[in-house]
Formats: sequence, structure tokens, C-alpha cells
Amino acid sequence: MTIPTPHIEAKSPDEIANTVLMPGDPLRAKFIAETYLDDVRQFNQVRGMLGFTGFYKGKRVSVMGSGMGIPSSSIYFHELFAFYEVGTIIRIGTSGAMQPYIALRDLVIATASNTDSNINSGLFGPYTFCPTPDFELLMQAYNRAKEMGIRVHAGTVCCSDLFYRELDPRVTERLQQYGALAAEMESAGLYMIARKLGKRALAMFTVSDSLVTKEAESPQARQEAYRQMMELALEIAPA
Ligand code: HPA
Repeated sequence: MTIPTPHIEAKSPDEIANTVLMPGDPLRAKFIAETYLDDVRQFNQVRGMLGFTGFYKGKRVSVMGSGMGIPSSSIYFHELFAFYEVGTIIRIGTSGAMQPYIALRDLVIATASNTDSNINSGLFGPYTFCPTPDFELLMQAYNRAKEMGIRVHAGTVCCSDLFYRELDPRVTERLQQYGALAAEMESAGLYMIARKLGKRALAMFTVSDSLVTKEAESPQARQEAYRQMMELALEIAPA
């Protein structure tokens, strides 16, 4: 594959920083660029998946939408790592709490990702591959979140292909019993691709709804928690 790719129109790897922060919503990427970055240049608008590069406290960083789910987001993860020489991707998303002690607006950091996607099935013979983040990034995010006074939980998440999934309740209960913290839809794809290509990745999520209590928050109400997560990601982003 040569660049530009079919999905990213940047003409050179120089247009994209070493670290890319990736919310699902491209308008969130625009918000981050407008709110936190100086000297911003837009590098992508193909399919409306806006991407920007700028400086956060003097550190060069990029931010781009990922879309929802592994099939969409993994196109961008792969192309950024493989063709644009990106070293680190930090996914900043939302998730559904799976434990009673996790409240709306808490932060969940995925130390490993269970998935119902078939992205790794058959690849490792009898083994089920365990998609995990970069350990250093994970430690930095957890420690910095604590310092910032964020209510943070680090543990496994459940990365599903379907948002409207008809899952046998006993399966959900078993996942909860085995400690799964939250449901989301991209981390396993990100962690798999980063491992395959020898890159660094981390996925973290504010809690927008709860599978336990069935509460959900409007996008407006979750903005403050989301801002804290953006600032955390910007702070720990490797230069
Ligand atoms: N399930 C999957 N992905 C999500 C959820 C959820 O409940 N909430 C936010 N992203």
C-alpha cells in the first residue's frame, strides 16, 4: 500500500504525529484540536473521518476519529501504524459498565480485551490470543489518572462486534463473575494490530451507561468526564 491510502488523504507521514488520540466521533477529534492544540493542521476528511495535528504544551500530537466497532476502526489503526509510521495510538471512547461498583463518568482502562470478534480466531492454533496494551502507557495512564483525582478502574473489558447484541444473560453474568469491567467495541482490534506491527496502544473509556443499573447519560452530561480523559490522554501521549 502506498500513501495516501484509500481512507487517509495525508500525503506524507510527516503530516501525522508519533502519537494519535482516537475518539470514535470525528467531531470530538475536531473539538480536541480546537480546545487543546496550537498551530493545528487538518490532515484528513475522507469519509468525514476528521484528523488533525497540532501541539499540546509544545508536544506534537495528532487526533483523529476512529468510527465505531472493530471493522471500521481497525482500518484506521492499521493504516496509521503501517503506512504513516505512527508509533502510538490511544483510543479514548465510551463504555457500558459491567460491575455494580463502576459509576457513570468513571474511567475504565483496558488491561486486556475479551472479544467476540473473530479477528484472532484460528491465527494461534489452539491458543486464544490475549490482546493487551503497552504496559508503560497503561501504568502512566493509571498513575496520572489517580493524581488527577479521577475515579479510575483498570481491568479487562468486553469488546463486542454488535452494540445491539442478543447475548445469553448467563454469558454476561459469567463475564461479570470473571471480573469484566465494561463493554465497548474497539480495544481488541487496536491491541491486536499494535502487537502485530510492534507498536504501542492503550484504550480507555469513560462510562456512558451501565449494563448493571441500565442508567445512561446524554452526550452533553458526559462531556465533563470526557474532557478529563482527553486531558489525561494528552498528558501521557509520547512525543
Ligand atoms: N456496549 C458496547 N459499547 C458501548 C457501550 C455498551 O454498552 N456503551 C458505550 N459503548
